Order: sequence, then C-alpha cells, then structure tokens
Amino acid sequence: MIRELKPGILSVGVLDWDRRLFDELIPLPDGTTYNSYLIKGRDKVALIDTVDPTKTAELLANLKETGVSKIDYVVAHHGEQDHSGSIPAVLAAYPMAKVVTNEKCAAELQDHLLVPADKFLIIKDGETLSLGDKTLQFIFTPWVHWPETFVTYLKEDQVLFTCDFFGSHRADSDLYATAEAEVYRSAKRYFAEIMMPFRSIIKANLDKIKDLGFTLIAPSHGPAYQRPAFILNAYRDWVGDQVKNEVVFPYVSMHGSTAAMADHFIAALIKRGVAVKPFNLPRTDVGELAMALVDAATVVIGSPTVLTGPHPAAVYAAFLANALRPKTRYASLLGSFGWGGKMAETIVGLLPNLKVEIIPPVIIKGYPKPADLAALDQLAEIVYNKHLNDPLVRKE
Ligand code: FEO
Repeated sequence: MIRELKPGILSVGVLDWDRRLFDELIPLPDGTTYNSYLIKGRDKVALIDTVDPTKTAELLANLKETGVSKIDYVVAHHGEQDHSGSIPAVLAAYPMAKVVTNEKCAAELQDHLLVPADKFLIIKDGETLSLGDKTLQFIFTPWVHWPETFVTYLKEDQVLFTCDFFGSHRADSDLYATAEAEVYRSAKRYFAEIMMPFRSIIKANLDKIKDLGFTLIAPSHGPAYQRPAFILNAYRDWVGDQVKNEVVFPYVSMHGSTAAMADHFIAALIKRGVAVKPFNLPRTDVGELAMALVDAATVVIGSPTVLTGPHPAAVYAAFLANALRPKTRYASLLGSFGWGGKMAETIVGLLPNLKVEIIPPVIIKGYPKPADLAALDQLAEIVYNKHLNDPLVRKE
C-alpha cells in the first residue's frame, strides 16, 4: 500500500500490526510501523530509509506500485536493521542507487549488512543534495539513539524526516497523529524505552533543529506529526529536569510479607497526596514501567530476600532503571527477609547511573508488625517532604 504524504512524497513503508516484541526485549502492545518515504524530484528520486528485513517483499511491491523506474538515492539515517535491513534488496532491485549516509552509518552498514563500500555517497553535517526541484539537507543528530543517527530536512516542502527520533511503536491506519492523546502514550513509551538514556544530547539535538521551519515531522516509526509542536513540546518536557510528585514502585513478593508492606506504603503515599504507580513485577509490562520512570520524582523498589539477596525480578527492575537513566531525584527500598542477607545493598549497588538521593530503606524480618508499618509511614512522610521541598518537583 502506498499513500501520498504531500505532492511528490509517498509513504511506501509497512505496517506491522502483529509484532509484539522488539529486540527480543521491548513489548509492542500496538505493533509498529517501518516508515519509508519516496521523494520524486524533477531530476532525481530518493528513498528515505527502508524497512525491517521481514517486510522487504512488501517494500519492493510498494516501490513497484509507485511506478518509478529508478531510485537514485537511498538515505540511510540509521544502521539498525528495522530501517536498513532492506537496503541490500533495494540496491539489488535498483542497481544505480547510492546509499546516502554519514561515515559512521556507512561503516555499520558494511559491518552488519555487507553493503559494498562503493555503494555509498558519504555526506557531512549540514550538507545538501538536490533532486532538481527538491533539496535534501542532512542534519546530524547523534545518539537518537545510535552514534550515527541524523535527520533529513526537505526544504521546499518543509518536512523533517527523523527516523527513530520522535517515533512511536504504533501500527495505526491513520498516516498522521490525529489521535494525539493515544499517540502521546505511544511516543512517551517509545521515548522511555529507546531515547531516555540520551536525555542530555537530545536537548542539544532539539536546539539544533528548532529553527528549521518544518511543518511536518515524518519519523520512521508511527504516525507523522502535522502539528510538530505537539511532539516537540512533549520531548522538551520529557528531557527537561522537572519531575512529577509521583513514586514509581516496582515490587515483588513471594509469600505476602513484601506485598503487605507494599499495600501499606501505597496507602501511606496516597494519604499524603503523593501519586504512586505500583508495578507488581511478575505481572508487569516493562514498557509501562519504563514509561512511568520518565518523569517520576522517586523510585522505590520492593523485594523479598531470596537466599542472601534480592528477588531476580527486583534485580531486573533495578538494572532496567539504571540502564534507562531516568531523571529520578530520590530512591529507596522496602522488603522482608527470613534470616538475613544483603538485599538492600545489592540493589543500591545496581543503581550507579541514577543521580539520586537514597532515602534509608525499610527492611524488616518476616511479616510487618506495627513498628514496621510505622516505619513505612515514616518512609512515605520523608518522600512527601522531599517532594514538597524540591523545586524540581512540580507542585500541581
Ligand atoms: Fe527503529 Fe533504532 O531502530
């Protein structure tokens, strides 16, 4: 299926309604898309990104449907295979085509896809390429989310093609982000899973593109943005330093002691007006957990003691939070043990990337007794006061 984005610009990518896992790691509750765009200039034809190798046949059928007899340029914004994986097949079908990309991406495509070195047209940051009546300008935006990533600005049509940047894993029959509330959730989830570790450099990338004057953002996953301010403002918020008066609380319980602590702690936070998002880890979609980490002020991890350390599910949550590097301000732990162990120390040791103040954990023996419940009240009170007195915690 092909659709017109603007005169001379066709969407030739593929909807993947059924994909449920990405990188064998990230759940995709709404599937995804691999967007690819064909730009027909007066003199030259350019293809912007390709699709996942599992969908190569669909891409080639779409290109055939456009009626173009030649492709001059294949712009490869990113080496990851969901966008580059069909490049060898496109080059085989359109042998005159050159792969337009930067040096880093060319090296990746040679390493991972064995694209011959003579197939590349290497571009530099800010360089332009004319298609006759349409001009492509390439702007390097590293680490969204690999070192080579860049975006392409189609000057005459004021379209910014951004590959993963601003994307969402969302199969949607609407080519555009018309249902903004739904797309917001998909884009935030995507940001959390893919982009959040690069928050600082994304700020610089947002500044770099802010004066381009585009009226449409066309990423290579999910719908295109006819109202760019919608996704730009969302990104500014997510990469900004402000956090919500909220606790993200991943926990796991084996025999009910940690669960009883969790119930009491959740109620104690709610009583104090602190929002809480509990995630019972064995039943948790890690994408939802990642999304909650984007802007919560505090993370508290709950775990029983297994042998001498934390439950592996709690280790996974801590490892994930550490890898995603959210802007969390405070962290703590709660949990129960039978006869001893180093649960709290082990989990704190897993969080070196979090620039957080550690609030003293509440670790108890067995099932919670009145003094333990009072300690949980105290933990909730400390969290409440930290949030109250921290200028970076929003007070609305
Ligand atoms: Fe959508 Fe980083 O690939």
